[in-house]
Amino acid sequence: MRKAFSLLLILCLLALPAASFAAALAADPAATTVEMSDVLYGLFFEDINHAADGGLYAELLQNRSFENQDLLDPKPHQRYNGWQFNLKNKGKAAAVPATEAPLNENNPTYMRITIEKAPYLLSNMGYASTAFSGGVPVEEGMQYDFSVWMRNPGDYTGGITVAITDRSANPLSESFTIAPAGEWQKFEHTFTSQATADACLTVTMEGTGSIDIDMASLMPRERFGAEWPGGGLRTDLVETLRALNPRFLRFPGGCVAEGSYVRANVYNWKDTVGPVEQRRENFNTWGYMQSYGIGFFEYFCLAEALGAEPLPVVHAGLLCQAREVREAPLTLEETRAYGQDILDLIEFATGDATTEWGGLRAQMGHPEPFRLNYLAIGNENWDNIYFDRYAILSEMVKASYPEITCIVAAGPVAEGALPQHSWQQIRSRFAEDLVDEHYYMDSDWFLRNTGRYDRYPRTTQVFLGEYAAHEPVIGGRRPNNLYSALCEAAYMTAIERNSDLVQIACYAPLMAREGMFQWTPDLIWFNAREVLLTPNYYVQQMFAATVGDHVVESTLEGENLYHVVTRTEDKLYVKVVSLSESETPLTLTLAGVPDGTAETVQLTGEKRMQNALTAPDRIAPVTGGCTISGGVAECVLPAYSVTIFTFPLAQ
Ligand code: AHR
Repeated sequence: MRKAFSLLLILCLLALPAASFAAALAADPAATTVEMSDVLYGLFFEDINHAADGGLYAELLQNRSFENQDLLDPKPHQRYNGWQFNLKNKGKAAAVPATEAPLNENNPTYMRITIEKAPYLLSNMGYASTAFSGGVPVEEGMQYDFSVWMRNPGDYTGGITVAITDRSANPLSESFTIAPAGEWQKFEHTFTSQATADACLTVTMEGTGSIDIDMASLMPRERFGAEWPGGGLRTDLVETLRALNPRFLRFPGGCVAEGSYVRANVYNWKDTVGPVEQRRENFNTWGYMQSYGIGFFEYFCLAEALGAEPLPVVHAGLLCQAREVREAPLTLEETRAYGQDILDLIEFATGDATTEWGGLRAQMGHPEPFRLNYLAIGNENWDNIYFDRYAILSEMVKASYPEITCIVAAGPVAEGALPQHSWQQIRSRFAEDLVDEHYYMDSDWFLRNTGRYDRYPRTTQVFLGEYAAHEPVIGGRRPNNLYSALCEAAYMTAIERNSDLVQIACYAPLMAREGMFQWTPDLIWFNAREVLLTPNYYVQQMFAATVGDHVVESTLEGENLYHVVTRTEDKLYVKVVSLSESETPLTLTLAGVPDGTAETVQLTGEKRMQNALTAPDRIAPVTGGCTISGGVAECVLPAYSVTIFTFPLAQ
């Protein structure tokens, strides 16, 4: 009998959900601690994973300018990337990348097609010329702005037409006729697509002789920033960025800003401004060419459009220290000379239209100066080889622009001798500057290290310029799952608690094109038509929408919970992250908070769950309410969740 009872008890216990321990959070909104940064959350945009070319940039054609190359292995065939020749197989021609009498000196390569037998077809397949689906994505009834530069070097006779076609060269739009003369000339037309398809852009040459082609471009008419010289951005991706409510935009990298292997690869902001056909393309440190259709002007415009502080990163005279370096850094003398480029950048952004570089900005369509309060000199740099160059460059900036906050790099890792040495140097030489920390660590590291910034001296402020919680690789990529997002959320409660010290924090990398990525995890995934938001994205979005201006003193009793309480004049934000595997009843005791209902936003799901293009909303924030009466509110936190409560405060 006794045995049977024990068995029954065990069975009953097994049937119960895992034990749930009640938790209690208490805060008094009148008891504030530190003032919070008003630029805490923002974006780090780098052209990695085709975030710019093949991503945010509205250009649908790949290698439009025939400049593609691999820095370490510049074989001529790379100039053909993105293009297909003689699709209908009816013509005969020699198609050769040529450099004699180019469009301009910054755009040295064009395609010379010498046709023996017509018709000869030249087609751009967009970003589908490798083994994955896609192409030039067109929608029935939508318009597409086309342009191309062409020249008839002398002996071409016959017609030339251009159309959007399917991948067998059957027309999907009206055709546009071109008659090039002996000099380079730009031709433009707006096509209307007759179908929704993964298409291509096809130039049909009906005659014989030679034709020169360069800078072919096709962009959806509906795009963001069409008036910018670069041509504009993909609207859906811009809106995805806007929804993160970013307070700053860090650009253009990352390693991209530093360049790899040889000096010719460093990112030179001057190559990225002016008319788009005059921008000197460069190989991307992530393995592809940068068209610079999104150049520094466009970055500043984007920051302005998003209401974000622009935060440019310039190199410090060193190639990416994390990669093999084949050329010496700039000497200290050369570094001083290079410093003028940085001063020119500041003039480009903020100088009036009568100055040389401010004048270029005005010509490009922005006579008013841009904001510029921050400037990072260096990305992931360390050691005295960097700090000596940083000293020269930051002194030059401060001497002319004392109002700009310079940002100094502390290296690419979270712990150990390297950052210790960096911090030692920085504290003794650059204590007033903002310090750029980068770390990509496993998810649990973030939970173990929520006390990191509690221990930092308050003398020098931090810019957490790159971070992400990394999960083990599955199927060739590190997943963006709920667990990693919650570990980041837990860490972000600590960032907020320390936001007198941590002025700025941004997740990295920001975007990745499905099938064309070099780095995982990433905050936003996309393909030619769709955008996929990750749990990590939603955490960033939820936190950025509820930044207070002061941290509020608070206590939380409970297991596997992380929290922060902040406030503005009229709102109290309570953020609670639960890493518990069972639900947790929570009592909130909030002194003086008026009776009523708090809005709640919650993200929860299975621990390792991810969103996918086929199931984009598996993990998505859900809004709800929570009543408070007599300063007490009760709720139940789901297992693996983050909940943000917004309580109205009496004014
Ligand atoms: O965010 C991806 C890369 O990580 C950045 O380019 C670099 O700064 C870091 O190593």
